Amino acid sequence: MKLATGWLALLAAISGAAQAGSPVSGKDAFEARCSACHAESGWATRVLKRRLPGDQAVLARRTGLTGAFVKVVVRHGTGSMPQIRKAELDDGTLDAIARYLEGPK
Ligand code: HEC
Repeated sequence: MKLATGWLALLAAISGAAQAGSPVSGKDAFEARCSACHAESGWATRVLKRRLPGDQAVLARRTGLTGAFVKVVVRHGTGSMPQIRKAELDDGTLDAIARYLEGPK
């Protein structure tokens, strides 16, 4: 039992280190750069609720989002969402955000 607990602690330490080593977490970047508008009660969520059902309006919970769609929307803007240029959000960070939104929720 003691040995098993030790292994779990070691595994947790290793996976923690792997996460710290990656340049940016998509979730953190989304929260920093998008959730001012796209949080549960954000302006964008309210706008999207006018034409999308419930959970689909909350990007962090929507299923079926593709990374390619997210990138096009961010770089070109859509409806009342302004475009976000490379100078404001670099490609690497946008990639991480797109992977996070595309992934399983
Ligand atoms: C200034 C507020 C604001 C910020 C910041 C913002 N958005 Fe938006 N976003 C909106 C609004 C408003 C809409 C709805 C546009 C419409 O349909 O009129 C939208 C729509 C979208 C859509 C399209 C959803 C759909 O189904 O049509 C995606 C994808 C999206 N945003 C991704 C992002 C990502 C990723 C970020 C961060 C990099 C981000 N947005 C930052 C305001 C914002």
